Amino acid sequence: MAGLISPKPVSYLQHNGQYNPYARGGLSNYSVTPPLSSASHQQPGQFMNNPNTNANLAAQEDSKIYGLVIDLLDPNTREGALLELSKKREQYDDLALVLWRSFGIMPALLQEIVSVYPLLSPPKLTAHVSNRVCNALALLQCVASHSETRQLFLNAHIPLFLYPFLNTTSKTRPFEYLRLTSLGVIGALVKVRRIPTFCPCSVRPMVDTDADTARSQQNDNNLVIHFLLSTEIIPLCLRIMETGSELSKTVAIFIVQKILLDETGLTYICHTYERFYAVGTVLSNMVNQLVETQAVRLLKHVVRCYLRLSDNLR
Ligand code: TRP
Repeated sequence: MAGLISPKPVSYLQHNGQYNPYARGGLSNYSVTPPLSSASHQQPGQFMNNPNTNANLAAQEDSKIYGLVIDLLDPNTREGALLELSKKREQYDDLALVLWRSFGIMPALLQEIVSVYPLLSPPKLTAHVSNRVCNALALLQCVASHSETRQLFLNAHIPLFLYPFLNTTSKTRPFEYLRLTSLGVIGALVKVRRIPTFCPCSVRPMVDTDADTARSQQNDNNLVIHFLLSTEIIPLCLRIMETGSELSKTVAIFIVQKILLDETGLTYICHTYERFYAVGTVLSNMVNQLVETQAVRLLKHVVRCYLRLSDNLR
């Protein structure tokens, strides 16, 4: 079943049946690869005989992507590939699948992350290094937001690799940018797109598979919340909500709000007085700051958090 709807991204590693992930033979190596998105259901043979220029263009673009993914494996070409792929990530729905399923790519991205740990304390991160690791984070975000890789990403405990970044306090731009991008990855995890149970503009009646999908999304969401709570993301978010830039604050409170909206999350936060007090204090400090900054978007999140806290009977 899954084979029908998802492309086989690993096929770019195989050429004439030979497996050589490091081969860099120019575009000819990738030319028979089925495209990522537009025509991924076509067989390579069919595809080659098809003079349709759109399909050819898509195939060329896909080859470019596959080439860049291979470039991630070579330390000499990695930096450029990180930049290019992170720029293109929006255009390819299934980039997450390619990244996750390709040999050696996730380790390469994790290597990028841990290699900057020594620069965190004492703070020695330069703008250049920060940009580079943020491009790696952008690719992880892509994996975190794809419905087919989100759970795998979580099971591998990859978000934990970002916690040291969230734990930094330096106010310089490279650190701000690093925290914001890391928060973005966590934000992508909690941002589950729901299938509406009733959509007035849709003529299609809700079918069983929709209900199944909604249920499995709910289940995924519970696992995400459980993971975040058990790894103590809340104190990290609370500190960023007090001291971060406006943008970081917004993403941090978005994450806290998503946790609060979950039943387990609300129960967890209201479980002890200390937790409730910590969250309440940070929210009220934010309101005080908002008097000066007039950040309306932030205020909306604060109000939603307060409102949700009031759902707890105690
Ligand atoms: N270990 C702390 C606790 O479980 C973690 C924590 C600190 C916390 N501050 C918090 C959890 C605020 C929720 C809210 O209480």
